[in-house]
Amino acid sequence: MTSTDSSDSAAQKDPAKDAAKAPAKDPWDLPDVSGLVVGVLGGTGPQGKGLAYRLAKAGQKVIVGSRAAERAEAAASEIGHGVEGADNAGTARRSDVVIVAVPWEGHGKTLESLREELAGKLVVDCVNPLGFDKKGAYALKPEEGSAAEQAAALLPDSRVAAAFHHLSAVLLQDPETDEIDTDVMVLGEERADVEIVQALAGRIPGMRGVFSGRLRNAHQVESLVANLISVNRRYKAHAGLRVTDV
Ligand SMILES: NC(=O)c1ccc[n+]([C@@H]2O[C@H](COP(=O)([O-])OP(=O)(O)OC[C@H]3O[C@@H](n4cnc5c(N)ncnc54)[C@H](OP(=O)(O)O)[C@@H]3O)[C@@H](O)[C@H]2O)c1
Repeated sequence: MTSTDSSDSAAQKDPAKDAAKAPAKDPWDLPDVSGLVVGVLGGTGPQGKGLAYRLAKAGQKVIVGSRAAERAEAAASEIGHGVEGADNAGTARRSDVVIVAVPWEGHGKTLESLREELAGKLVVDCVNPLGFDKKGAYALKPEEGSAAEQAAALLPDSRVAAAFHHLSAVLLQDPETDEIDTDVMVLGEERADVEIVQALAGRIPGMRGVFSGRLRNAHQVESLVANLISVNRRYKAHAGLRVTDV
């Protein structure tokens, strides 16, 4: 073996040199998601209806889901903007991206029962496992680490991301509020999936999706809602979050 061989291969494998050669991709260069159908499981609740309203108003095709199709249809006609309603299974089947907006108590059971319909879909979990007592809200500790990791464990054939945890359903649903002044922390394992969710968040005026790590870090993001609830109670607010310097 010659010394040139070994030094050449070392140079080829030097990640610092490779990075210097390849032009870095602009992290704000996000895909066009306007053609994707977005479904919302539990889309009859405030969070699901609020997200459906904002996304549909921005031009996205949205289907709200429910355990009962007639409740979903009623919610859809209330929201307007072309939103349709279906049962949760039909919603999952017809959608490209499926937002999970059911309460933590029903999270595992709901996803387990929809494993087949959710296969191949991008599932976006926004569920915050919280408890409430005399002192206010506090974070629960799911066995899998977080709601998002529970989703990933239950849905091996889906792509799971997590986002939209810190939004105020009151502001989302308020037709007088033109812009939702907040960043959305987006977590996931695959960059392409994270970017789809970032782009969806970015369709809502005022909102920006920011990559915030892998699913193993979802627990902190879900838990932070307990802090935001404390902020909201003290200041009579509907607080959002901004990540500065990005
Ligand atoms: N509210 C917020 O401001 C907010 C903000 C960020 C994130 N989130 C998260 O978003 C999720 C939804 O919040 P929400 O306030 O909209 O909740 P919600 O009103 O309590 O529930 C949403 C919908 O889920 C369905 N549901 C209720 N119990 C269920 C169960 N055991 N199994 C399956 N489905 C059930 C109901 O629809 P059907 O009866 O029609 O099936 C209900 O309308 C929560 O996990 C929450 O942590 C909420």
